[in-house]
Amino acid sequence: MQPPEEIGGEMVLSDELYDKFVKMVYKKTGIFYEHNKKYYVQKRIEKRAEMIGMGSINDYYRMLKFSKDSTEFDRLINDLTINETYFFRDYPQLRNFAENVLPIVVREKKKNNDRNIKIWSAACSTGEEPYTLSIILQEMLDEPEKWNLQIVASDINTDVIHSAKIGLYEYRSVRDVPPEYLEKYFTKKHESYQVNPNVKKLVKFMKINLVDLVAVSDITGCDFIFCRNVLIYFDDESRKAVLSDFYRGLNPGGIIFLGHSESVGRISSAYHMQRIGDTIVYFKPK
Ligand SMILES: C[S@@+](CC[C@H](N)C(=O)[O-])C[C@H]1O[C@@H](n2cnc3c(N)ncnc32)[C@H](O)[C@@H]1O
Repeated sequence: MQPPEEIGGEMVLSDELYDKFVKMVYKKTGIFYEHNKKYYVQKRIEKRAEMIGMGSINDYYRMLKFSKDSTEFDRLINDLTINETYFFRDYPQLRNFAENVLPIVVREKKKNNDRNIKIWSAACSTGEEPYTLSIILQEMLDEPEKWNLQIVASDINTDVIHSAKIGLYEYRSVRDVPPEYLEKYFTKKHESYQVNPNVKKLVKFMKINLVDLVAVSDITGCDFIFCRNVLIYFDDESRKAVLSDFYRGLNPGGIIFLGHSESVGRISSAYHMQRIGDTIVYFKPK
């Protein structure tokens, strides 16, 4: 095993060791770091190795590789993941969901006397996406109190889940929230915005790694899965695996929403597509 080189007193991660880290992270999370991300990854590895008093990056690698306890690996992942998000992100997509897609599903459910709606926000980061969906459901349903509404919100990163549960946001996060919703669903606390209990009550947070088939297969009966802006960090093989697990988690007729640069059709042919409103949506056939 090649040790990291010592140049001018600074620890430098050799390409070979970098590749080993990348492989390990990819295998456990589906996230794939190209070589051009080396500086970004290296900084985080160095920080963690230093924090726990490792003598070298090589020792740190060996510790992660052979330890049975995943705590340190989870901490590294918390530092590595990119958690950028905000309320009502990709407004046109959410508007289409609220005004065109949801009403079709609601009509169908009413016809079948089914009063359950389950949504999974599958890489929820600090909670802005699932809370946005909670607001949309409460705004768009005629009598929300007559429905059993459930939003499962999950992420691999335990730090973001912790802060999602608190639900306190800076202006940057709520900048796209329509003013009347800001008034109705948030409480201003000094310079921050706290989501109200009526938004929180529909959302249940949990840690789920999307490449952990066992954890993912616990989430079933979904009418909608939102998995936005995370598959961009995966390669095609792990994207394919995740989409096929989602397929099992969806109800027949259930619909999946990805980020605008991610495409279901390119990755999986199991889903059918249909134009609803001004976008193509992908769904599990009935
Ligand atoms: C850029 S954020 C997207 C948040 C939100 N979906 C949005 O579109 O605004 C990507 C999130 O994916 C999470 N993530 C990355 N790999 C994951 C994995 N293997 N399983 C679950 N979540 C993962 C990260 O921790 C991060 O919070």
